[in-house]
Amino acid sequence: PSPGWTTRADVVIVGSGIAGLTAALRLRGQVDKILVVTKDVLNAGSTQWAQGGIAAALGPGDTPEQHEADTLVAGAGACDRDAVRVLVNEGPEAVRELIALGTNFDHTADGELSLTREGGHHRDRIAHAGGDATGAEIQRALIAAIQAAPDIEVIQHALAVDLLLGPDDSGKPGVAGLTLHVIGEGERDGVGAVHCRAVVLASGGLGQVFTQTTNPVVSTGDGMALALRAGATLRDLEFVQFHPTVMYLGPDSRGQQPLISEAVRGEGAFLVDDEGDRIMQGVHELADLAPRDVVAKAIMKRMLETGRPHMWLDARHLGAQFWERRFPTILATARSYGIDPVTQLIPVAPACHYASGGVRTDLHGRTDVPGLYATGEVACSGVHGANRLASNSLLEGLVFSRRIAEVLPAELAAWREPVAERRTAGLVAGDVRRELQETMSSRVGVLRTAPGLAEAAVVLDKLASRAAETVDQASWEATNLVTLSAALADAAALREETRGSHWREDFPERDDADWAGHFDVTMADGAT
Ligand code: SIN
Repeated sequence: PSPGWTTRADVVIVGSGIAGLTAALRLRGQVDKILVVTKDVLNAGSTQWAQGGIAAALGPGDTPEQHEADTLVAGAGACDRDAVRVLVNEGPEAVRELIALGTNFDHTADGELSLTREGGHHRDRIAHAGGDATGAEIQRALIAAIQAAPDIEVIQHALAVDLLLGPDDSGKPGVAGLTLHVIGEGERDGVGAVHCRAVVLASGGLGQVFTQTTNPVVSTGDGMALALRAGATLRDLEFVQFHPTVMYLGPDSRGQQPLISEAVRGEGAFLVDDEGDRIMQGVHELADLAPRDVVAKAIMKRMLETGRPHMWLDARHLGAQFWERRFPTILATARSYGIDPVTQLIPVAPACHYASGGVRTDLHGRTDVPGLYATGEVACSGVHGANRLASNSLLEGLVFSRRIAEVLPAELAAWREPVAERRTAGLVAGDVRRELQETMSSRVGVLRTAPGLAEAAVVLDKLASRAAETVDQASWEATNLVTLSAALADAAALREETRGSHWREDFPERDDADWAGHFDVTMADGAT
């Protein structure tokens, strides 16, 4: 549909988690007009839900080199080493800046920053806040800073639909604007367009592709799908991380599920089966603190062997006082579902948690489309490889948004005249979501096989042809979910090995001798 309203901004930032708001604050004063658009309210994204914390080599004896080594091991041979070096070297200063901004991290009785450990880390290097409410505290501090910056405009309830492209002086196409579908925001209601010179995508991940996820309902991969349609390249889509310890609420539970942070294992909890036998003993030298993919696989394996839908986390020995102080959010949530972790085992099973792949960027967040940058979960900067190291995600958004702000102002192109939208693919009906999620979870989830992936492709093809009757948020989101699911299933079929979070039952070994490289997806590959 043609835009009902238009506005202008030099830079539009899509998303309002740690990546988006950091980009906005760091660009402030360097470019004239900054507009932040967000699909729901400012704190509705994944940052708010982060529990464990943010990793950086801040503790005594720790170094960026050790953080780098742990990140590379977790990434299972698929990380970009230069990107990892940027992450770990710039991480400590970036976290200190977050503290200076007003984020209240937890401290020890001696007044030192309290640092804990999570899966895959050989050092205590996870800073946390409010015990297990790290993301919420970071989000609070960032929103306070944005609200104190009235020159940064914010439009909430604004779904980013498509990039508008236009030629520069030399005829080369680049970002000229962005179309938005806004709901209930006064004059800016309905479909509109922002004429702009650059767009920073910071719109998060795609967890809603699956039936059960730790991601909030807004995580429908909008930024990745939008970038793909605009000609950007997506990379590593098959590497979707399943968090090992998500509270199991029964077979019919759908959507966002409660996370039981790895930090609970970091403080001594352990996984057991129905017989009370420890699951991780003998599986890995770090036992319950092995990298996330190793723990998720061990749990799944035991679930398959025993026919049980979940395993158990035993954290009773931590005691009531410790639970109340260190994990108040998880304690309250578990109790709200009738489980008291102080006296009972917590039922847990793996669920979709994080997209390690996304829009391919360089070390300054640049994508293949001039004027389009990406940061945070929507991006694939190369730091996560085949399996993200715990608590490196908030850090990635923070570090790479700072880097975007270092280069973007000098790279701002002259205003381009948008060429009329050439979008040909129709919108998909919003009600395909459930079948899509069931298909993705059963065929493209933790365990993958060639026949299952082929079946998924057929179903997704069928769903792609279910045309929407109305243009609304549900149909935009369904279109994005179908686009990304098809690309993800294709990449998973192409990768005939088991590596990191990508687990092929029919190719159970990691194939280093014949490493196939990264799988890139572009519109030219037939994505819709
Ligand atoms: C957790 O708290 O277990 C999640 C941390 C992360 O995803 O990095």
